[in-house]
Amino acid sequence: MSEQPASPAAHTSVGVAVLGCGHWGKNLVRNFAQLQALRWICDRHEPSLQAQAKLYPNIRATSNLADVLADSDVQAVVIATPAAMHYDHARQALLAGKDVFVEKPLALKYHQGQELVELARSRGAVLMVGHILEYHPAVTLLKDLIRRGELGRLLYVYSNRLNLGKVRQEENILWSFAPHDISVISTLVGSAPIQVSTSGGSYLQSNIVDVTVTNLLFEDGIRGHIFVSWLHPYKEQKLVVVGDRKMAVFDDTIREGKLKIYDKGIEWRAGLPMPRQTAETTLYLEEAEPMRLECEHFLACVRERKQPLTDGENALRVLKVLEAGQLSLERGGVPVPLTEIETGVPA
Ligand SMILES: NC(=O)c1ccc[n+]([C@@H]2O[C@H](COP(=O)([O-])OP(=O)(O)OC[C@H]3O[C@@H](n4cnc5c(N)ncnc54)[C@H](O)[C@@H]3O)[C@@H](O)[C@H]2O)c1
Repeated sequence: MSEQPASPAAHTSVGVAVLGCGHWGKNLVRNFAQLQALRWICDRHEPSLQAQAKLYPNIRATSNLADVLADSDVQAVVIATPAAMHYDHARQALLAGKDVFVEKPLALKYHQGQELVELARSRGAVLMVGHILEYHPAVTLLKDLIRRGELGRLLYVYSNRLNLGKVRQEENILWSFAPHDISVISTLVGSAPIQVSTSGGSYLQSNIVDVTVTNLLFEDGIRGHIFVSWLHPYKEQKLVVVGDRKMAVFDDTIREGKLKIYDKGIEWRAGLPMPRQTAETTLYLEEAEPMRLECEHFLACVRERKQPLTDGENALRVLKVLEAGQLSLERGGVPVPLTEIETGVPA
């Protein structure tokens, strides 16, 4: 594949370097190339770098981040290196005066995330985190439906993100998969959870859990759970939202009909709970690649000096839940209040 034609909204004025051209980073390379913003690709693994360099012969390629940071044509660095490196790479880029788009999770420690957010703030830099689902047309529409009261009062939200692989060796499944679910569920509920409990099991590597179930408690008694696994026979990415009027299901593994609304619920008749079953409605979604929307949003924020939808504060809210989940996991699944992460003092 070679470079694609420019989009109507070509962002020619913003120069971007993509750091990390692996499994995920190559998609970011493609999108920023299509948006005519790509100036550099950088990967220390020569075969990965060369594979991308062949596809984009007019783009400069290096294995050394310093080359990228020294180039004043590069306004923003997009980081898709392994999660354990996000903190260091984002820090270096911010200190070099660049805007930063970093893949999820922002860092593997809440306090490191705080440091990055503070660094970006003090330098007036744009810091965005790749919580890609927040740019998915299905999530945008679902958020709008909930705000307009279409589902009624939210009661329960849950998400399954299951697959076979990709098994990470530095972060566990909670930190690898659940950032997406935490960001989306918090967005739909309109607030962060107040308490988190997580339990899970390690089967492939000692001390790295492969499967977790995280229970979330929000204000107003709204609850949710997140079930993530990389040791599962098939891919499932399903979000279920239960309201007191209607219910919604977002199934991201099917090509069409990803978002359905079910006019179903329980009605009380003569003191008895009776299921109300009416038709389901499949909603029409904008045909757009979520990553394309995410990349366009980042470029617009850089150009217009705007706070991204998934900015550093958004990433910190997610990190707080991850850290509470991790603590709970280490304590055998007991609930951990989010205030413990903020203050460092057990409740
Ligand atoms: N948003 C999503 O849905 C999603 C999905 C998958 C992965 N990701 C994220 O993307 C990131 C990368 O994941 P991946 O699956 O592509 O991993 P990967 O291992 O396939 O790719 C990482 C790349 O970074 C390169 N790299 C490592 N250290 C480097 C350095 N110091 N300088 C230059 N290059 C370096 C590696 O050589 C490798 O090519 C992770 O943070 C992951 O969480 C996000």
